[in-house]
Amino acid sequence: MSIEALVRSCIIDLEPYEPGKPVEEVERELGITGVIKMASNENPLGPSPLAVEAVRRAAARMEIYPDGNAYYLKRELASLLGVGEDQLFIGNGSDEIIHFLGITYLHPGDEVIVADPSFSRYDSVATLMNATLIKVPLKDFRHDLEAMAAQFSPRTKLVFVCNPNNPTGTIVGRDEVERFLEKLPADAIVVFDEAYCEYVEADDYPDSLRYIGEGRHVVTLRTFSKIYGLAGLRVGYAVSSPEITAHLNRVKEPFNVNSLALTAALASLRDPDQVERSRRLVLEGKRFLQQSFVAMGLTCIPTEANFIMVRVGLDSRDVFKALMARGIIVRTGDIFGLQDYIRVTIGTAKQNERFVTALADVLGKE
Ligand SMILES: Cc1ncc(COP(=O)(O)O)c(C=O)c1O
Repeated sequence: MSIEALVRSCIIDLEPYEPGKPVEEVERELGITGVIKMASNENPLGPSPLAVEAVRRAAARMEIYPDGNAYYLKRELASLLGVGEDQLFIGNGSDEIIHFLGITYLHPGDEVIVADPSFSRYDSVATLMNATLIKVPLKDFRHDLEAMAAQFSPRTKLVFVCNPNNPTGTIVGRDEVERFLEKLPADAIVVFDEAYCEYVEADDYPDSLRYIGEGRHVVTLRTFSKIYGLAGLRVGYAVSSPEITAHLNRVKEPFNVNSLALTAALASLRDPDQVERSRRLVLEGKRFLQQSFVAMGLTCIPTEANFIMVRVGLDSRDVFKALMARGIIVRTGDIFGLQDYIRVTIGTAKQNERFVTALADVLGKE
């Protein structure tokens, strides 16, 4: 029998994830150096020096399996967040937790509601589990929670609210989220993906942990990949009820998060100054980029995250290529259905200036 006949049909339907292009690949392909990546919403300041030092020390003991229960990291997070340790699940990136949520809860034919465009990993796990994916278009680049709620049915199982949303950077506010939760069917779970929560400035950003405390079927996802600068190590976490956490614990592999990642995450939590520096850098960079776009006559989507979608008015793939030739990697909007936008990660002041100069050059602006 051919191998094609053996594979589950939903695997054929899966689209492999296309990550932002790595710097080394671009430098190799173009034969240039000094390329900067402003494509994957990483932290340009890098990790906390405390994390680097902790990894250096832990590296000497890497013959030992990691703590599969992530005891110390959970203890620290529980105390910082004011939740129980039995409400915390640590994942190999929040990507892994999205995957586990699907494996744990989705029966074939269950419905998964997502916004469109939003983070593509939600779609992938729905496809993987033979669930029915319902994509609800954004309204004014924000989640249209009313339209999403209009899709609720007895088959609704998982609802993903990416807040701030990747790729638009927009948020949904407390009042609309609370109205939305009131309509949630009893057998559905809402996942608030808060990968970028630390960058939010808006006053009405909801406190999703409160909803968990109220006993609702809510999962909050956070990550060490963004403001903590640990994307390369892969560590994220979920806060939810002890019951949901226990289900996820049954699904995970015994040692899903490696010992260097656990150590680095713990050390990062003990360096709030680095977090504050990272946040300030992004907020200053955001003002600079927004002002530069206005000066160039370009519009951008108001963002609450560490990236901005800017309307370049041309095919985003052409602008992407032209910027890449100038040593800057961004994300094209076409993959999100926004053909004439690009998404740029806010960088250091120097990187932002270099990006603006290159973009002005590409678009023929002064
Ligand atoms: C909205 C969102 N959720 C989750 C992730 C995955 O993060 P992690 O590195 O923790 O797997 C990303 C990464 O880009 C993201 O943008």
